[in-house]
Formats: sequence, structure tokens, C-alpha cells
Amino acid sequence: MRLFPFCAAALLSAALTATAQQGSATITIQADKPLHKVSPTLYGLMTEEINYSYDGGLYAEMVRNRTFEHDWSGFEHWTLVEQGTGRATITDSKTDGPTVDLPRSLRLTVTAADAANPAGLRNEGYWGIPVRPDTIYTGSIFAHAVDGTPGPITVSLVNDNTGKVLATTTTQPVTGDWKQYQYVLKAEKLVAGALNHLQFTLAAPATIDLQLPSLFPPTYKNRVNGNRADLMEMLAGMHPKFLRMPGGNYLEGDTPEERFDWKATLGPLQNRPTHRSPWNYTSTDGMGLLEFLEWTEDLNIEPVLAVYAGYSLKGAHINAGAALKPYVDDALDEIEFVTGDQNTKWGAIRTQLGHPKPFPLHYVEVGNEDQFDRSGSYDGRYKQFYKAIKQAYPQLQMIATTPVKSITPDVIDDHYYKQSGEFYAMLNHYDTMDRNGPKIFVGEWATREGSPTTNAGDMLGDAAFMTSMERNSDLIVLASYAPLFVNVNPGGMQWPGDLIGYDAMSSYGSPSYYAQALFSQYLGTDVPESQKTGGSDRVFYSVTTDAEKGKMYLKLVNGTTLPQPVQLQISGAKLQREAQVETLGAITQAETNSIFDPKRIVPVHSVLRVSPNLQHTVPPLSVQVIVFGM
Ligand code: AHR
Repeated sequence: MRLFPFCAAALLSAALTATAQQGSATITIQADKPLHKVSPTLYGLMTEEINYSYDGGLYAEMVRNRTFEHDWSGFEHWTLVEQGTGRATITDSKTDGPTVDLPRSLRLTVTAADAANPAGLRNEGYWGIPVRPDTIYTGSIFAHAVDGTPGPITVSLVNDNTGKVLATTTTQPVTGDWKQYQYVLKAEKLVAGALNHLQFTLAAPATIDLQLPSLFPPTYKNRVNGNRADLMEMLAGMHPKFLRMPGGNYLEGDTPEERFDWKATLGPLQNRPTHRSPWNYTSTDGMGLLEFLEWTEDLNIEPVLAVYAGYSLKGAHINAGAALKPYVDDALDEIEFVTGDQNTKWGAIRTQLGHPKPFPLHYVEVGNEDQFDRSGSYDGRYKQFYKAIKQAYPQLQMIATTPVKSITPDVIDDHYYKQSGEFYAMLNHYDTMDRNGPKIFVGEWATREGSPTTNAGDMLGDAAFMTSMERNSDLIVLASYAPLFVNVNPGGMQWPGDLIGYDAMSSYGSPSYYAQALFSQYLGTDVPESQKTGGSDRVFYSVTTDAEKGKMYLKLVNGTTLPQPVQLQISGAKLQREAQVETLGAITQAETNSIFDPKRIVPVHSVLRVSPNLQHTVPPLSVQVIVFGM
């Protein structure tokens, strides 16, 4: 965390000079009386292809519409390049493509061109093509000559405004058979920016078919077909323990045909047909099942694998029984792909794809939000999946997306999208819930007031809800905020109220992001006995200890615009004289971070002198984590 002494002082002075007061609260903690363990896997990640989360987001591909989808207006995000006397047209080849999965292509007919007057096409990227100095970009394109002698393709990164060529190279001359042509573009000294495009041109008249142009910057941990480094670093900063994947609605699709069909997302990109996502754009499926798993590996976390359960968003469902069996078998194959060794059929396929080591897996979720299946078929569907998966993998914990009657699920997935006041009103929801029934996965939740990313009011609602989840983490084993990502460019967002925003060049965390990161970083292992008396009913807390680390973590949330004096009565631990404090504070609930003002609300570090019967004031509209040494 960064140290901002000036801001810390400003927050403190705001707290002290506020005119109105509210009665003091007393928080009593018996540090040596643990009530129960904290779930070590409490905080994780949930993502899906929404808000350009992967394409145009985490997945680092820079070319947009690389499979040349088109409508009446042409090939979206592609435009002709006709330099000088160069002339060209583009059409859909319709029947000519490099693989059965990509059976068509873009046909480029260059009618006039020479070295000084090239013609071809350009791609605008995902709201620009980010180019940085001293950076190597790698890519490839499938091509074949239909007519004439095209020679090589010139591939260039070009500035939109100046026309300056930032990096350029040529492929091998294009021949008659479909072939993949690799290229490397080296950007040298330049000013980093995203107002650029990627150009493919010929210097001779000819007709060629093109498919799957691609360009990647350096990726996180240098994965081929990998992820944006800045976004992966932000995720690592959340200290997550799991990734719920691959959705969300994205798992289900609008129809069964548009579900996340994991088998169609494996292997070389030319073998992935792409599919329409329920968030109304085509998914490249560059983020396929193996890429999801490698993402978990790169963050040293585990997948929580959601399998398609025979229900899609527009209401189609597959009844339990023989009709559902292929889907159950598909889920069994998927689990084998994730966990099987090289001697299993799907473990061997994973090995062929370059990952011999099985991935760890403890939780499998059957479907997503099946309470929306009005046919009532989920009970039977869940039971069929549960029995088949438990029989093959008795060690797996099976998550149901809504309560069922015919069998007892191991875990139920609860989702909450609320305003902060609604969260404040339900913070005791889990306190009295039956501890002998299924465990709880809060698989999607968020306070939703700000847009595109959440604001300070959301941060307070989120933090308040997290205090209740920690207090109940004997019951709540997993929790993941959603949605995680949003591309903040116009048209990038389908769902307002997201955790991390970005454009082509940069990314930022919402105030809620920092609350999540702090709560997760200072999770603790045990919940000791404690209580709060007095003070505002909009002031919340959670306390956990970690005996091994010799720490006690006190999280305080002041959802009011008044300072909250608190008397801390801590027994059962010899506390060190200084405690470390991280404060997230705001002036108003609407205050927020944005792509233009990314660090407005970030943790501010200060030191608290510890004494018996400690008096502490929680600033207005703030979240604090006090780290006591014991
Ligand atoms: O997080 C956005 C959507 O909300 C998810 O796709 C869906 O599961 C829920 O309704």
C-alpha cells in the first residue's frame, strides 16, 4: 500500500472537525476465544465474457474481429487502405477458409498497387491499438493466393493522426495453398498511445483470401495467446483464492447451441469456430477452457468449474433422463480434462495441448441461476449431474445454483446485486442460518450505484457485506464479486457497476476493488468472540485473528457522513504498541476512481498507537483495516 501522509492527515482532520457527532460505539474482542475458522478460500474471482472482459480486455489479442464477421455495413472494424494510386475491394469468400472450423475468409482483391502505392485493409483494434516504445509484437495471418502473384504481405502499425509507420515487416510471399504467415513487429522510440491501426497491404495486383490475423503484445508471464499484464497484476493484487469460470450467463448462452461449449474452445485458434455470447457480441474463444485454467495457474489459485447444466437464458431446457445424458457426459469429460492424468482420454488431450500437469479442483457448479428455469426441471437435472459426478469424483463438492429438494447439495450459490442501503439491511441474513445444511457460495454480488465502475457508496456497501460474510465464514465458504471487468470505452459496457475498468492503454480499480483487496489481504484464520454496542447502526465491523502470523485484523466500515468514535476493549492478547491502519476514505458517496482519475480513492496508510481501552475514530464514509501485532 502507498503511504499518503497528507491524505491521512486530511481524513483525520475531516473526522475531527465535522460539526455533528454520533454516540460512541464500543467493540469488545476476546482475541483468545475463537468461535470458528475463517474459510481460507473465502474471496475469489468471478468473470465471464461481458463488458469486453476477455476480447478487448484481459485476453491480450489486439486485432478486433479477426474472423471477419460482417453484416450489411461491411466487415466491422476493418477498412480499406488505398495509398496513392493503390486500389482494392473486399468481399466474403463464403466457401474458402483455412480449416473446417473457419470455413470462410475475407477476399482481398487488389486491382492496382506497387511498392509506393500499396493497397489492402486496416484494423482499428479494440478502441485503438496500443503501441509502446521498445516493445516486440508477435502475430500471424492465414492467407492463400486466389489469383495473380501477390508477393509478401506488408504488416504495419501506423499512427491514426500522423500516418507515421511505428513498426513494419513483410511476410513470406503468399502462395496458392492456405498457410499461416508469422510476423514480428518491433516498436522502437515513440510516445506510447492507442491512436493507431494495424495494416495489411500488398504491393502488387492480386486476389488473396485472409483469415485469423492476430497480434499480441508481451503477455503476463509471457504466455503464448496470453493475458494483459496490467489486468493480471490487478487480479493478483486482490489476493484471490479461486476463479469461478466460465460464467454467469456466458456459461448458459441464450440457447443451448450458444452455451460455452468447452470442447470447441480447445487447441489452435484456427480450430475454434467462435460463438455468440449472450451479451450480444461474438466471442473469439481465444479465452478457451485451457486458457482459463492457465489463468488460475498464473495466479496460483483454483478453478471453481461451472458446467453447462441443460438450461439456457431464453428458456430452453433439457429434461433430466436420456436427453440430458450427453450433457452430463460432457461435464464428466470436462472434469477429466481439468484433473485427469496423462493416461486418461481427456488428460491426454490436455497433455497434447501442452499441459501435462492436472489442475487442482475442489468445486463443481451445476449451471447458473437455474431459479430462472420456470419449467422446474433443475431439481432433476441437478440430481443427475450430482450423482454421476459424485460417483466418478466423490471428493468434489457439488454446488447447486438454487435450492433443490430431491438431493442435498454440498453448497448453494447465492447472488446479490443491491444498493448499499439494501446490503446494510440484510447484514444479519446469514447469522441465524442452519449450520447443518449446505454451505454457501456467494458466487455473484456487488453494490451497484456507480457506473461504469463502482463508487465510494458502493465500496461502503461492499465492505459492510464483507464484514457479514467474514462473521459467517463457517457457513460461507466462497464469495466472488461480479462483474469483475469493464471496458470503459463507449459501447464497451453491458452491465453497469463493475470492479475494474480499462481502455486499450491503462486500467484502474474502483473504490470497491481496493476494499476487496484489503479484506482479502487481511483475511485471518479465526473469528474470535466479539460484539459491538452503541454507535450508529450504519457502522459495521469484522474481526479475525491469525495466530501463526501473530496478527489480529479489525475491519471497520463507517457508512455515515459522521465520524464514529469507537472504544476498543481487547482482551486475551498482548498487543504490540503500534498497529498499522489502511484507510479508504471518501468525501461523498458519489466520489469515485475513473480512467482519468484512477487513484482518487486508494488505501492510505497510517499508524495507530495502541493502549488499553483504545479510543479510535472511524472517519466518515470510510473503510479501515487495523492490523494489530500480537
Ligand atoms: O454478472 C452479470 C450477470 O448477472 C451474470 O451473467 C448472471 O449470472 C447474473 O444474472
